[in-house]
Amino acid sequence: MTLKQEIQKRKTFAIVSHPDAGKTTLTEKFLLFGGAIQVAGAVKSNKITKTATSDFMEIEKQRGISVATSVMGFEYRNYKVNILDTPGHQDFAEDTFRTLTAADSAIVVIDAAKGVEPQTRRLVEVLRMRDTPIIVFVNKLDRPGKDPFELMDEIEETLNIKVRPLSWPIGMGNDFKGVYDIYSQKLKLFRPNEKSDDENSFVFEDLDDAELNEAMGKDISTLKDDLELVDGVYPEFKHQEYQSANITPVFFGSALNNFGVQEILDCFLDIAPNPLGGKAEERTVKPEENNFSGFVFKIHANLDPNHRDRIAFVRINSGIFKRNQFYHHVRQDKQIRFASPTAFMASKKSVIDEAYPGDIVGLHDTGHFKIGDTLTEGEKIHFKGMPSFSPELFKYIENADPMKSKQLHKGIDQLMDEGVAQLFTGRTSGRKIIGTVGQLQFEVIQYRLLHEYGAKCRYEDIRLYKTCWITSDNKEVLNDFIDRKSRNMAIDKEGRDVFLAESPFALQMAQEKYPEIEFHFTSEF
Ligand code: G4P
Repeated sequence: MTLKQEIQKRKTFAIVSHPDAGKTTLTEKFLLFGGAIQVAGAVKSNKITKTATSDFMEIEKQRGISVATSVMGFEYRNYKVNILDTPGHQDFAEDTFRTLTAADSAIVVIDAAKGVEPQTRRLVEVLRMRDTPIIVFVNKLDRPGKDPFELMDEIEETLNIKVRPLSWPIGMGNDFKGVYDIYSQKLKLFRPNEKSDDENSFVFEDLDDAELNEAMGKDISTLKDDLELVDGVYPEFKHQEYQSANITPVFFGSALNNFGVQEILDCFLDIAPNPLGGKAEERTVKPEENNFSGFVFKIHANLDPNHRDRIAFVRINSGIFKRNQFYHHVRQDKQIRFASPTAFMASKKSVIDEAYPGDIVGLHDTGHFKIGDTLTEGEKIHFKGMPSFSPELFKYIENADPMKSKQLHKGIDQLMDEGVAQLFTGRTSGRKIIGTVGQLQFEVIQYRLLHEYGAKCRYEDIRLYKTCWITSDNKEVLNDFIDRKSRNMAIDKEGRDVFLAESPFALQMAQEKYPEIEFHFTSEF
Protein backbone atom coordinates (compact mmCIF):
# COMPACT_ATOMS: atom_id res chain seq x y z
CA MET A 1 0.00 0.00 0.00
CA THR A 2 1.26 3.50 -0.74
CA LEU A 3 1.67 6.10 1.97
CA LYS A 4 -1.32 7.96 0.57
CA GLN A 5 -3.49 4.85 0.80
CA GLU A 6 -2.35 4.24 4.35
CA ILE A 7 -3.37 7.80 5.25
CA GLN A 8 -6.76 7.46 3.57
CA LYS A 9 -7.34 4.31 5.52
CA ARG A 10 -6.90 6.00 8.88
CA LYS A 11 -9.20 7.88 11.25
CA THR A 12 -7.87 9.05 14.61
CA PHE A 13 -10.35 10.50 17.06
CA ALA A 14 -10.73 11.30 20.74
CA ILE A 15 -13.70 10.08 22.71
CA VAL A 16 -14.87 12.64 25.23
CA SER A 17 -17.48 12.75 27.97
CA HIS A 18 -18.26 13.58 31.54
CA PRO A 19 -17.74 10.50 33.74
CA ASP A 20 -20.61 8.01 33.54
CA ALA A 21 -22.15 9.28 30.31
CA GLY A 22 -21.17 6.01 28.64
CA LYS A 23 -17.78 6.61 26.99
CA THR A 24 -16.35 3.24 28.01
CA THR A 25 -19.47 1.37 26.94
CA LEU A 26 -19.52 3.08 23.55
CA THR A 27 -15.79 2.48 22.99
CA GLU A 28 -16.30 -1.15 23.80
CA LYS A 29 -19.12 -1.48 21.28
CA PHE A 30 -16.94 0.14 18.62
CA LEU A 31 -14.21 -2.38 19.35
CA LEU A 32 -16.71 -5.24 19.17
CA PHE A 33 -17.74 -4.08 15.69
CA GLY A 34 -14.15 -4.12 14.62
CA GLY A 35 -13.68 -7.59 16.10
CA ALA A 36 -10.83 -6.13 18.14
CA ILE A 37 -12.31 -7.63 21.28
CA GLN A 38 -14.54 -10.63 21.59
CA VAL A 39 -16.46 -10.00 24.76
CA ALA A 40 -18.17 -7.03 26.27
CA GLY A 41 -16.47 -5.98 29.48
CA ALA A 42 -12.92 -6.23 28.17
CA VAL A 43 -12.39 -2.49 28.15
CA LYS A 44 -14.43 -1.88 31.23
CA SER A 45 -12.29 -4.18 33.33
CA ASN A 46 -9.38 -1.89 32.60
CA LYS A 47 -11.23 1.22 33.57
CA ILE A 48 -10.30 3.13 36.66
CA THR A 49 -13.02 2.28 39.12
CA LYS A 50 -15.07 5.10 40.45
CA THR A 51 -15.09 3.83 44.00
CA ALA A 52 -11.38 4.47 44.52
CA THR A 53 -12.23 8.06 45.29
CA SER A 54 -9.50 9.47 47.44
CA ASP A 55 -7.10 6.56 47.29
CA PHE A 56 -4.78 8.07 44.75
CA MET A 57 -2.20 5.30 44.97
CA GLU A 58 -4.84 2.89 43.88
CA ILE A 59 -5.65 5.25 41.05
CA GLU A 60 -2.00 5.47 40.05
CA LYS A 61 -1.82 1.70 40.04
CA GLN A 62 -4.92 1.42 37.96
CA ARG A 63 -3.66 4.18 35.74
CA GLY A 64 -0.78 1.87 34.88
CA ILE A 65 -3.25 -0.73 33.77
CA SER A 66 -5.48 1.68 32.01
CA VAL A 67 -2.65 3.14 29.98
CA ALA A 68 -2.97 0.22 27.60
CA THR A 69 -6.48 1.34 26.86
CA SER A 70 -5.75 5.03 26.57
CA VAL A 71 -5.07 4.43 22.87
CA MET A 72 -6.95 1.71 21.08
CA GLY A 73 -6.80 0.75 17.45
CA PHE A 74 -9.10 -1.46 15.47
CA GLU A 75 -9.91 -2.30 11.87
CA TYR A 76 -13.41 -1.96 10.50
CA ARG A 77 -14.71 -1.62 6.92
CA ASN A 78 -11.14 -1.45 5.67
CA TYR A 79 -10.36 1.47 7.93
CA LYS A 80 -7.79 1.59 10.66
CA VAL A 81 -9.44 3.49 13.49
CA ASN A 82 -7.44 4.92 16.39
CA ILE A 83 -9.40 5.89 19.50
CA LEU A 84 -7.80 8.18 22.04
CA ASP A 85 -9.42 7.90 25.41
CA THR A 86 -9.53 11.01 27.55
CA PRO A 87 -9.17 10.18 31.23
CA GLY A 88 -11.87 11.45 33.51
CA HIS A 89 -12.82 11.03 37.15
CA GLN A 90 -10.19 11.80 39.71
CA ASP A 91 -7.31 11.47 37.30
CA PHE A 92 -8.54 14.37 35.22
CA ALA A 93 -5.38 16.29 34.53
CA GLU A 94 -3.71 18.47 31.99
CA ASP A 95 -2.80 15.51 29.86
CA THR A 96 -6.51 14.95 29.34
CA PHE A 97 -6.57 18.25 27.47
CA ARG A 98 -3.40 17.48 25.62
CA THR A 99 -4.60 14.12 24.36
CA LEU A 100 -7.06 16.11 22.27
CA THR A 101 -4.20 17.66 20.32
CA ALA A 102 -3.32 14.24 18.90
CA ALA A 103 -6.82 13.67 17.48
CA ASP A 104 -8.16 14.74 14.09
CA SER A 105 -11.76 14.69 15.28
CA ALA A 106 -13.81 13.84 18.36
CA ILE A 107 -16.92 12.00 19.44
CA VAL A 108 -18.61 13.57 22.45
CA VAL A 109 -20.93 11.36 24.52
CA ILE A 110 -23.77 13.02 26.40
CA ASP A 111 -26.19 11.40 28.85
CA ALA A 112 -29.74 12.13 27.62
CA ALA A 113 -30.99 12.63 31.18
CA LYS A 114 -28.13 14.76 32.48
CA GLY A 115 -27.48 16.84 29.39
CA VAL A 116 -24.22 18.76 29.08
CA GLU A 117 -22.02 18.30 32.17
CA PRO A 118 -18.98 20.30 33.33
CA GLN A 119 -16.16 18.06 32.13
CA THR A 120 -17.70 17.86 28.67
CA ARG A 121 -17.89 21.63 28.59
CA ARG A 122 -14.20 22.04 29.44
CA LEU A 123 -13.08 19.48 26.89
CA VAL A 124 -15.27 20.82 24.08
CA GLU A 125 -13.87 24.28 24.74
CA VAL A 126 -10.42 22.91 23.96
CA LEU A 127 -11.69 21.11 20.86
CA ARG A 128 -13.25 24.35 19.66
CA MET A 129 -10.04 26.30 20.16
CA ARG A 130 -8.43 23.95 17.68
CA ASP A 131 -11.42 23.74 15.29
CA THR A 132 -11.57 19.99 15.74
CA PRO A 133 -14.67 18.50 14.06
CA ILE A 134 -17.07 16.96 16.58
CA ILE A 135 -19.87 14.39 16.40
CA VAL A 136 -22.21 14.12 19.41
CA PHE A 137 -23.75 10.86 20.63
CA VAL A 138 -26.75 11.31 22.93
CA ASN A 139 -26.73 8.16 25.04
CA LYS A 140 -29.03 6.19 27.36
CA LEU A 141 -32.27 6.65 25.42
CA ASP A 142 -33.58 3.48 27.07
CA ARG A 143 -33.90 5.61 30.21
CA PRO A 144 -36.15 8.63 30.69
CA GLY A 145 -34.31 11.72 29.50
CA LYS A 146 -34.72 15.30 28.39
CA ASP A 147 -36.81 16.20 25.35
CA PRO A 148 -34.55 15.87 22.27
CA PHE A 149 -35.29 19.38 20.99
CA GLU A 150 -34.50 20.82 24.43
CA LEU A 151 -31.29 18.81 24.46
CA MET A 152 -30.29 20.25 21.09
CA ASP A 153 -30.83 23.77 22.48
CA GLU A 154 -28.81 22.96 25.58
CA ILE A 155 -25.95 21.53 23.53
CA GLU A 156 -25.90 24.57 21.26
CA GLU A 157 -26.01 27.03 24.13
CA THR A 158 -23.66 25.46 26.62
CA LEU A 159 -21.11 24.07 24.18
CA ASN A 160 -21.32 27.01 21.82
CA ILE A 161 -21.65 24.82 18.74
CA LYS A 162 -24.21 24.52 15.93
CA VAL A 163 -25.86 21.13 15.72
CA ARG A 164 -27.46 19.13 12.92
CA PRO A 165 -29.24 15.93 14.06
CA LEU A 166 -28.37 13.05 11.75
CA SER A 167 -30.58 10.66 13.65
CA TRP A 168 -33.74 11.18 15.68
CA PRO A 169 -35.30 9.16 18.51
CA ILE A 170 -38.84 7.87 18.80
CA GLY A 171 -39.74 8.18 22.45
CA MET A 172 -37.45 7.62 25.42
CA GLY A 173 -37.25 5.43 28.51
CA ASN A 174 -40.05 2.87 28.67
CA ASP A 175 -41.56 4.46 25.62
CA PHE A 176 -38.36 4.24 23.53
CA LYS A 177 -39.27 2.70 20.19
CA GLY A 178 -36.23 3.26 18.06
CA VAL A 179 -34.14 5.72 16.10
CA TYR A 180 -34.54 7.07 12.61
CA ASP A 181 -31.15 7.37 10.95
CA ILE A 182 -31.50 10.55 8.92
CA TYR A 183 -28.04 10.06 7.42
CA SER A 184 -28.78 6.70 5.80
CA GLN A 185 -32.58 7.14 5.87
CA LYS A 186 -33.46 4.01 7.77
CA LEU A 187 -35.65 3.40 10.78
CA LYS A 188 -34.47 0.86 13.30
CA LEU A 189 -36.86 -0.37 15.96
CA PHE A 190 -35.68 -0.93 19.51
CA ARG A 191 -36.27 -4.48 20.72
CA PRO A 192 -34.22 -4.79 23.91
CA ASN A 193 -35.38 -8.25 24.90
CA GLU A 194 -36.08 -9.81 21.54
CA LYS A 195 -33.40 -11.52 19.57
CA SER A 196 -33.78 -12.05 15.87
CA ASP A 197 -31.49 -13.92 13.51
CA ASP A 198 -32.27 -11.34 10.96
CA GLU A 199 -31.44 -7.91 12.38
CA ASN A 200 -33.06 -6.36 9.32
CA SER A 201 -36.50 -7.45 10.45
CA PHE A 202 -36.41 -4.41 12.73
CA VAL A 203 -35.22 -2.05 10.01
CA PHE A 204 -37.56 -0.09 7.77
CA GLU A 205 -36.43 1.97 4.84
CA ASP A 206 -39.85 3.35 4.00
CA LEU A 207 -41.67 5.38 6.63
CA ASP A 208 -44.93 4.71 4.74
CA ASP A 209 -44.49 0.96 5.10
CA ALA A 210 -47.93 -0.40 6.07
CA GLU A 211 -46.44 -2.70 8.71
CA LEU A 212 -44.57 0.02 10.48
CA ASN A 213 -47.25 1.35 12.82
CA GLU A 214 -48.00 -2.12 14.04
CA ALA A 215 -44.39 -3.16 14.41
CA MET A 216 -43.65 0.00 16.35
CA GLY A 217 -46.78 -0.11 18.48
CA LYS A 218 -47.04 3.63 18.02
CA ASP A 219 -48.23 6.08 15.41
CA ILE A 220 -45.46 7.04 12.99
CA SER A 221 -46.91 10.51 12.47
CA THR A 222 -45.10 11.99 15.51
CA LEU A 223 -41.76 10.96 14.04
CA LYS A 224 -42.72 12.42 10.68
CA ASP A 225 -43.65 15.72 12.35
CA ASP A 226 -40.39 15.73 14.29
CA LEU A 227 -38.36 15.06 11.17
CA GLU A 228 -40.09 17.89 9.38
CA LEU A 229 -39.27 20.18 12.26
CA VAL A 230 -35.64 19.00 12.32
CA ASP A 231 -35.30 19.76 8.62
CA GLY A 232 -36.95 23.13 9.12
CA VAL A 233 -34.98 24.24 12.15
CA TYR A 234 -31.46 22.91 11.53
CA PRO A 235 -29.24 23.63 8.55
CA GLU A 236 -28.76 21.01 5.87
CA PHE A 237 -25.84 18.70 6.64
CA LYS A 238 -22.79 19.63 4.62
CA HIS A 239 -19.65 17.56 4.86
CA GLN A 240 -17.40 20.57 4.49
CA GLU A 241 -19.18 22.44 7.28
CA TYR A 242 -18.60 19.52 9.62
CA GLN A 243 -14.94 19.15 8.67
CA SER A 244 -14.33 22.83 9.25
CA ALA A 245 -16.00 22.45 12.67
CA ASN A 246 -18.89 24.79 11.86
CA ILE A 247 -21.55 22.16 12.30
CA THR A 248 -21.81 19.21 14.68
CA PRO A 249 -23.83 16.15 13.64
CA VAL A 250 -25.80 14.54 16.46
CA PHE A 251 -26.75 10.87 16.83
CA PHE A 252 -29.03 9.22 19.38
CA GLY A 253 -28.86 5.74 20.84
CA SER A 254 -28.10 3.47 23.72
CA ALA A 255 -24.53 2.28 23.97
CA LEU A 256 -25.41 -0.37 26.53
CA ASN A 257 -27.96 -1.90 24.17
CA ASN A 258 -25.66 -1.46 21.19
CA PHE A 259 -28.40 0.59 19.64
CA GLY A 260 -27.58 3.39 17.22
CA VAL A 261 -23.88 2.59 17.63
CA GLN A 262 -23.21 1.14 14.21
CA GLU A 263 -25.02 4.10 12.67
CA ILE A 264 -22.72 6.65 14.29
CA LEU A 265 -19.64 4.54 13.51
CA ASP A 266 -20.58 4.14 9.84
CA CYS A 267 -21.32 7.83 9.45
CA PHE A 268 -18.14 8.75 11.32
CA LEU A 269 -16.04 6.65 8.91
CA ASP A 270 -17.71 8.36 5.93
CA ILE A 271 -17.30 11.92 7.10
CA ALA A 272 -14.49 12.23 9.67
CA PRO A 273 -11.21 13.70 8.47
CA ASN A 274 -8.22 11.52 7.63
CA PRO A 275 -4.95 12.31 9.45
CA LEU A 276 -4.22 15.97 8.97
CA GLY A 277 -0.49 16.45 9.38
CA GLY A 278 0.40 19.32 11.66
CA LYS A 279 1.20 22.98 12.02
CA ALA A 280 4.80 23.60 12.96
CA GLU A 281 6.14 27.01 13.96
CA GLU A 282 8.20 26.98 10.77
CA ARG A 283 5.67 25.58 8.26
CA THR A 284 2.64 23.36 7.76
CA VAL A 285 3.52 19.69 7.50
CA LYS A 286 1.41 17.53 5.19
CA PRO A 287 0.79 13.90 6.13
CA GLU A 288 1.81 12.60 2.71
CA GLU A 289 5.32 14.07 2.92
CA ASN A 290 7.88 11.29 2.65
CA ASN A 291 9.91 12.32 5.67
CA PHE A 292 8.67 11.14 9.03
CA SER A 293 7.66 13.67 11.67
CA GLY A 294 5.74 13.36 14.91
CA PHE A 295 5.34 14.86 18.38
CA VAL A 296 5.08 13.71 21.97
CA PHE A 297 1.63 14.48 23.40
CA LYS A 298 1.68 12.37 26.51
CA ILE A 299 4.25 10.80 28.79
CA HIS A 300 3.30 8.05 31.12
CA ALA A 301 5.57 7.17 34.00
CA ASN A 302 5.76 4.19 36.26
CA LEU A 303 4.03 1.59 34.17
CA ASP A 304 5.76 -0.95 36.26
CA PRO A 305 6.77 0.17 39.75
CA ASN A 306 9.72 -2.26 39.65
CA HIS A 307 11.28 -0.56 36.65
CA ARG A 308 11.31 3.17 36.56
CA ASP A 309 10.32 3.39 32.93
CA ARG A 310 8.27 5.87 31.01
CA ILE A 311 6.39 5.66 27.77
CA ALA A 312 6.26 8.65 25.46
CA PHE A 313 3.20 8.65 23.23
CA VAL A 314 4.05 9.99 19.80
CA ARG A 315 1.49 11.00 17.22
CA ILE A 316 2.79 10.59 13.69
CA ASN A 317 2.14 13.62 11.53
CA SER A 318 3.91 12.71 8.28
CA GLY A 319 5.85 9.98 6.51
CA ILE A 320 6.50 6.49 7.78
CA PHE A 321 7.90 5.79 11.22
CA LYS A 322 10.27 2.81 11.18
CA ARG A 323 11.64 0.70 13.99
CA ASN A 324 15.39 0.92 14.58
CA GLN A 325 15.83 3.92 12.33
CA PHE A 326 17.64 6.97 13.71
CA TYR A 327 15.43 10.01 14.18
CA HIS A 328 16.22 13.56 15.13
CA HIS A 329 15.13 14.75 18.57
CA VAL A 330 14.79 18.42 17.66
CA ARG A 331 14.95 19.99 21.15
CA GLN A 332 17.99 17.97 22.19
CA ASP A 333 19.54 18.12 18.70
CA LYS A 334 20.31 14.44 18.99
CA GLN A 335 19.81 11.27 16.96
CA ILE A 336 17.87 8.50 18.70
CA ARG A 337 16.44 5.20 17.56
CA PHE A 338 13.81 2.98 19.01
CA ALA A 339 14.21 -0.77 19.16
CA SER A 340 10.75 -1.59 20.41
CA PRO A 341 8.12 0.96 19.49
CA THR A 342 4.69 -0.27 20.47
CA ALA A 343 1.29 0.08 18.90
CA PHE A 344 -1.93 -0.25 20.80
CA MET A 345 -4.59 -2.54 19.41
CA ALA A 346 -7.61 -2.86 21.66
CA SER A 347 -6.16 -3.67 25.06
CA LYS A 348 -3.05 -5.32 23.66
CA LYS A 349 0.34 -3.78 23.13
CA SER A 350 2.63 -5.06 20.42
CA VAL A 351 5.98 -4.09 18.93
CA ILE A 352 5.59 -2.68 15.43
CA ASP A 353 7.98 -2.20 12.53
CA GLU A 354 6.19 0.67 10.84
CA ALA A 355 3.53 3.24 11.64
CA TYR A 356 1.77 5.87 9.54
CA PRO A 357 0.29 9.36 9.93
CA GLY A 358 -2.54 9.33 12.45
CA ASP A 359 -1.03 6.38 14.29
CA ILE A 360 0.16 6.62 17.86
CA VAL A 361 3.32 4.81 18.87
CA GLY A 362 4.58 4.28 22.39
CA LEU A 363 8.33 4.84 22.76
CA HIS A 364 10.26 3.61 25.71
CA ASP A 365 11.83 6.65 27.34
CA THR A 366 14.58 7.04 29.87
CA GLY A 367 14.02 10.74 30.43
CA HIS A 368 14.75 12.26 27.02
CA PHE A 369 11.27 13.47 26.27
CA LYS A 370 9.14 16.40 27.29
CA ILE A 371 5.55 16.99 26.28
CA GLY A 372 5.55 18.74 22.92
CA ASP A 373 8.91 17.39 21.69
CA THR A 374 9.21 16.90 17.93
CA LEU A 375 10.90 13.97 16.18
CA THR A 376 11.92 14.27 12.51
CA GLU A 377 14.34 12.87 9.96
CA GLY A 378 16.60 15.86 10.53
CA GLU A 379 14.53 18.95 9.79
CA LYS A 380 14.38 21.47 12.63
CA ILE A 381 10.67 22.00 13.08
CA HIS A 382 8.59 22.45 16.22
CA PHE A 383 4.98 21.37 16.19
CA LYS A 384 2.52 23.82 17.65
CA GLY A 385 -0.65 22.95 19.45
CA MET A 386 0.62 21.75 22.80
CA PRO A 387 -0.76 24.58 24.87
CA SER A 388 -0.69 24.80 28.62
CA PHE A 389 -3.97 25.95 30.08
CA SER A 390 -4.38 28.24 33.00
CA PRO A 391 -4.63 25.79 35.91
CA GLU A 392 -7.51 25.94 38.34
CA LEU A 393 -5.92 25.00 41.66
CA PHE A 394 -2.72 26.40 43.12
CA LYS A 395 -0.40 25.79 46.06
CA TYR A 396 3.05 26.91 47.10
CA ILE A 397 5.45 23.98 47.12
CA GLU A 398 8.18 24.04 49.77
CA ASN A 399 11.16 21.85 50.49
CA ALA A 400 10.54 19.82 53.65
CA ASP A 401 14.03 18.30 53.80
CA PRO A 402 16.87 20.80 53.28
CA MET A 403 19.35 17.95 52.66
CA LYS A 404 17.43 16.89 49.59
CA SER A 405 16.90 20.14 47.76
CA LYS A 406 18.74 18.96 44.63
CA GLN A 407 16.53 15.89 44.41
CA LEU A 408 13.44 18.02 44.93
CA HIS A 409 14.33 20.36 42.07
CA LYS A 410 15.15 17.51 39.74
CA GLY A 411 11.91 15.73 40.67
CA ILE A 412 9.76 18.81 40.18
CA ASP A 413 11.47 19.48 36.87
CA GLN A 414 10.85 16.01 35.50
CA LEU A 415 7.27 15.79 36.71
CA MET A 416 6.52 19.11 35.01
CA ASP A 417 8.09 17.79 31.77
CA GLU A 418 5.67 14.91 31.97
CA GLY A 419 2.85 17.41 32.16
CA VAL A 420 1.59 16.39 35.59
CA ALA A 421 1.12 20.05 36.57
CA GLN A 422 2.56 23.50 35.90
CA LEU A 423 5.22 25.37 37.78
CA PHE A 424 5.39 29.13 38.28
CA THR A 425 8.12 31.01 40.12
CA GLY A 426 7.23 34.22 41.92
CA ARG A 427 9.08 37.19 40.45
CA THR A 428 9.99 38.87 43.70
CA SER A 429 9.56 36.07 46.23
CA GLY A 430 11.19 33.33 44.17
CA ARG A 431 8.64 30.95 45.68
CA LYS A 432 7.49 28.05 43.59
CA ILE A 433 3.81 27.61 42.83
CA ILE A 434 2.28 24.41 41.50
CA GLY A 435 -0.88 24.76 39.40
CA THR A 436 -3.13 21.81 38.56
CA VAL A 437 -6.56 21.11 37.12
CA GLY A 438 -7.37 18.38 39.66
CA GLN A 439 -6.92 18.21 43.43
CA LEU A 440 -5.45 14.73 43.24
CA GLN A 441 -2.38 15.93 41.36
CA PHE A 442 -1.00 17.59 44.50
CA GLU A 443 -0.99 14.28 46.34
CA VAL A 444 0.41 12.45 43.33
CA ILE A 445 3.29 14.94 43.09
CA GLN A 446 4.08 14.70 46.80
CA TYR A 447 4.01 10.92 46.69
CA ARG A 448 6.08 10.61 43.54
CA LEU A 449 8.70 13.12 44.73
CA LEU A 450 9.20 11.03 47.83
CA HIS A 451 9.17 7.60 46.22
CA GLU A 452 10.97 8.33 42.98
CA TYR A 453 13.36 11.11 43.98
CA GLY A 454 13.65 10.71 47.75
CA ALA A 455 12.55 14.32 48.21
CA LYS A 456 10.05 15.64 50.71
CA CYS A 457 7.77 18.55 50.00
CA ARG A 458 4.97 20.34 51.76
CA TYR A 459 2.31 22.64 50.43
CA GLU A 460 1.11 26.03 51.57
CA ASP A 461 -2.14 27.62 50.54
CA ILE A 462 -2.10 30.53 48.18
CA ARG A 463 -4.98 32.78 47.28
CA LEU A 464 -5.03 32.60 43.53
CA TYR A 465 -7.83 32.56 41.00
CA LYS A 466 -6.03 32.24 37.68
CA THR A 467 -2.68 32.62 36.02
CA CYS A 468 -2.58 34.51 32.71
CA TRP A 469 0.22 34.82 30.27
CA ILE A 470 0.55 38.49 29.33
CA THR A 471 1.72 40.13 26.11
CA SER A 472 1.54 43.59 24.57
CA ASP A 473 2.81 45.36 21.47
CA ASN A 474 3.63 48.26 23.77
CA LYS A 475 6.71 47.11 25.67
CA GLU A 476 6.68 50.19 27.91
CA VAL A 477 3.18 49.46 29.14
CA LEU A 478 4.08 45.81 29.63
CA ASN A 479 7.15 46.64 31.69
CA ASP A 480 5.20 49.19 33.70
CA PHE A 481 2.59 46.54 34.48
CA ILE A 482 5.22 43.99 35.48
CA ASP A 483 6.91 46.55 37.76
CA ARG A 484 3.73 47.73 39.42
CA LYS A 485 2.36 44.25 39.88
CA SER A 486 5.69 42.63 40.68
CA ARG A 487 4.23 40.93 43.76
CA ASN A 488 1.65 39.29 41.52
CA MET A 489 4.02 38.39 38.75
CA ALA A 490 5.71 35.06 38.10
CA ILE A 491 7.51 33.29 35.31
CA ASP A 492 6.54 29.91 33.89
CA LYS A 493 8.94 27.08 33.07
CA GLU A 494 9.75 28.58 29.69
CA GLY A 495 10.54 31.95 31.24
CA ARG A 496 7.37 33.69 30.09
CA ASP A 497 5.68 36.40 32.14
CA VAL A 498 2.59 35.31 34.01
CA PHE A 499 0.14 37.45 35.96
CA LEU A 500 -1.20 35.88 39.16
CA ALA A 501 -4.77 37.09 39.51
CA GLU A 502 -6.00 36.72 43.07
CA SER A 503 -9.68 36.99 42.20
CA PRO A 504 -11.97 37.48 39.21
CA PHE A 505 -12.24 41.09 40.35
CA ALA A 506 -8.48 41.62 40.38
CA LEU A 507 -8.27 40.20 36.88
CA GLN A 508 -11.09 42.38 35.63
CA MET A 509 -9.51 45.49 37.17
CA ALA A 510 -6.16 44.72 35.55
CA GLN A 511 -7.81 44.13 32.18
CA GLU A 512 -9.74 47.40 32.40
CA LYS A 513 -6.79 49.46 33.57
CA TYR A 514 -4.39 48.05 30.98
CA PRO A 515 -6.34 47.73 27.73
CA GLU A 516 -3.12 47.48 25.76
CA ILE A 517 -2.15 44.27 27.50
CA GLU A 518 -3.53 40.94 26.38
CA PHE A 519 -4.29 38.39 29.08
CA HIS A 520 -4.07 34.83 27.72
CA PHE A 521 -5.61 31.80 29.37
CA THR A 522 -3.59 29.32 27.36
CA SER A 523 0.13 29.45 26.72
CA GLU A 524 -0.30 29.39 22.96
CA PHE A 525 -1.13 32.78 21.57
P1 G4P B 1 -17.95 6.44 31.28
O1 G4P B 1 -16.91 5.62 30.62
O2 G4P B 1 -18.39 7.61 30.46
O3 G4P B 1 -17.63 6.83 32.68
O4 G4P B 1 -19.29 5.56 31.40
P2 G4P B 1 -19.52 4.00 31.32
O5 G4P B 1 -19.45 3.52 29.92
O6 G4P B 1 -18.71 3.31 32.33
O7 G4P B 1 -21.04 3.97 31.73
C1 G4P B 1 -21.50 4.44 32.99
C2 G4P B 1 -22.71 3.67 33.42
O8 G4P B 1 -23.77 3.90 32.48
C3 G4P B 1 -22.50 2.17 33.44
O9 G4P B 1 -23.32 1.66 34.47
C4 G4P B 1 -23.07 1.72 32.10
O10 G4P B 1 -23.47 0.39 32.10
C5 G4P B 1 -24.23 2.67 31.96
N1 G4P B 1 -24.64 2.88 30.55
C6 G4P B 1 -23.87 3.13 29.48
N2 G4P B 1 -24.64 3.24 28.38
C7 G4P B 1 -25.92 3.08 28.77
C8 G4P B 1 -27.17 3.07 28.07
O11 G4P B 1 -27.27 3.24 26.88
N3 G4P B 1 -28.28 2.85 28.84
C9 G4P B 1 -28.22 2.65 30.19
N4 G4P B 1 -29.37 2.45 30.83
N5 G4P B 1 -27.05 2.65 30.86
C10 G4P B 1 -25.92 2.85 30.16
P3 G4P B 1 -22.74 1.24 35.87
O12 G4P B 1 -23.88 0.74 36.67
O13 G4P B 1 -21.94 2.36 36.45
O14 G4P B 1 -21.74 0.13 35.51
P4 G4P B 1 -22.06 -1.38 35.22
O15 G4P B 1 -22.20 -1.97 36.55
O16 G4P B 1 -23.31 -1.42 34.39
O17 G4P B 1 -20.88 -1.87 34.48
